[in-house]
Amino acid sequence: MSHTISDLVSRRFAEHINVDQEQLANETHRLQLQHRSYRQFLTKTVSEETLRLLIACSLSAPSKSDLQQVSIIHLESNQSRDFIQGALPSIPWIETAPVLLLFCGDSHRIQSVCKMHKTNFAHSPIDAFLNTATDTAMVLQNFIIAAEAVGLGCCPISAVREITEQLVEFCQMPKGVYPLAGLCIGYPDEEPDISIRLPMSATLHKNTYDTKNLEAKISNYNMRRQEINPYKTQRQIEKYGSSDTYGWSNDKARQTSKKERLSFDHHIRKQGFDI
Ligand SMILES: Cc1cc2nc3c(=O)[nH]c(=O)nc-3n(C[C@H](O)[C@H](O)[C@H](O)COP(=O)(O)O)c2cc1C
Repeated sequence: MSHTISDLVSRRFAEHINVDQEQLANETHRLQLQHRSYRQFLTKTVSEETLRLLIACSLSAPSKSDLQQVSIIHLESNQSRDFIQGALPSIPWIETAPVLLLFCGDSHRIQSVCKMHKTNFAHSPIDAFLNTATDTAMVLQNFIIAAEAVGLGCCPISAVREITEQLVEFCQMPKGVYPLAGLCIGYPDEEPDISIRLPMSATLHKNTYDTKNLEAKISNYNMRRQEINPYKTQRQIEKYGSSDTYGWSNDKARQTSKKERLSFDHHIRKQGFDI
């Protein structure tokens, strides 16, 4: 059955939303509205030609001041795959994904350009870090869209930042380079649910930031989401107990109450991003 764009938008937000400009919507919009992360893959290989096309598409993303501060590392050898599976054993889709890429923020190259031309790199550390991170995130997202357009599925892996120091050493990343996210890629062997997004009344603001009724909007979202994507497990029960009304906000409040990615934090400071 083919869905109208209103159907797809309504499904994404789990509320009825009528899209007036139905005729403006095209296949790219349909693809974006049906995005989901995939964690189960067929063994079917992704050809080298397909991968190069997708990488070319992904590297076509805009770049802050054309600085192009991204590098992609293809973890393709058995040794590389053994290393990353061994370091992140709790993520089985790292093992089963036919392709695994690492999307890295890269300030090394532009600092080499400064050396070539005998200037000193003087951008403020926070701005310099954000420039590399935003460029890399855009290239990552461009890859996902390009991949989904040819029937592939992807799952970003920020857990690589748990093992930043090991990864930097294994991949011999020079100073100024860091892993932002991994990406598992393959032909899907599952049809995951669409993950419901927060209502636009909470995420879209007109002219000024609107904080009104935020808790009510979130509670409402929890309920709508719980009907469609209920949480099967609860985090940190030993600390917070079990909740009968466990929903998105409960899950995220518990998740963010725990320190994580300390290896990344340590690495970033050591690498000269003095933030
Ligand atoms: C930067 C980034 C890092 C992510 N890291 C992980 C990860 O380490 N493990 C995982 O299973 N999913 C990861 N995800 C996928 C998110 O869990 C997923 O995008 C989110 O739950 C929304 O679901 P959807 O992508 O299906 O819409 C990551 C997503 C992003 C954007």
